[in-house]
Amino acid sequence: MPQIKVSSLKKSYKNAKLVTEVLRGIDFDVNESEFISIVGPSGSGKSTLLYVLSGLESYDQGEIYIFDKLLTDYTDSQKAKLRSQDIGFVFQFYNLMPNLTTYENVLLASVLGSQKTKQEVMDTLDIVGMKDYKDYYPAQLSGGMQQKVAIARCLINDPKIIFADEPIGNLDYESGKKIMELFKTLNQTYHKTILMVTHNLESTSYGQRTLHMLDGKVIDDEKKSK
Ligand SMILES: Nc1ncnc2c1ncn2[C@@H]1O[C@H](COP(=O)(O)OP(=O)(O)OP(=O)(O)O)[C@@H](O)[C@H]1O
Ligand SMILES: [Mg+2]
Repeated sequence: MPQIKVSSLKKSYKNAKLVTEVLRGIDFDVNESEFISIVGPSGSGKSTLLYVLSGLESYDQGEIYIFDKLLTDYTDSQKAKLRSQDIGFVFQFYNLMPNLTTYENVLLASVLGSQKTKQEVMDTLDIVGMKDYKDYYPAQLSGGMQQKVAIARCLINDPKIIFADEPIGNLDYESGKKIMELFKTLNQTYHKTILMVTHNLESTSYGQRTLHMLDGKVIDDEKKSK
């Protein structure tokens, strides 16, 4: 059984009289420890797909199974646990709390799961290479460093699946490369399942599979031969 199973998924946004069909019948499976890139033009529904899969947005039709269970069958408390512990989300603009240090940002995220010890927070900062910056505030860090802290924050509850929406979209080339290496390590060493939206075709080479989206549909499911 795949870790995520999506079938005939549809979603529209309704504003006043306007209905925008954003996901128009999507089918695919995600196996444990897969690293999948999602590409496609602006407006093709990539972010919406990630939000729907992670339970941040509702959907209209079709089915989503996560860990063998229909997403709509999760109770509110099961959904809260799913979001805080089993799934991690990394955004393009990091979304760190500006008035908290590196250490505090990661610790705060653990409070939502089962609160972690100082050692566990430091071990997680070590994985992303940010231990030496534990007392820095976000404004004192480069974009790449802030993204590493955001990744540590996502890792602290040891999620099985990481969703990332253009995680290197705001970074320079070298910083982006470092973040991609980190995702590769998380996938290959820590066996995290990763679904990453990207506009950067080079970054798709870090994953094993690329879904191409167009107008709310998956038009190609490309598996790397190796
Ligand atoms: N909250 C919303 N209300 C109405 N329409 C929305 C909303 N969010 C997204 N849309 C529309 O849904 C479509 C898909 O948006 P989405 O953000 O998923 O695209 P995307 O592929 O992530 O694009 P980008 O590459 O620019 O991030 C767009 O036409 C967008 O205008
Ligand atoms: Mg988007």
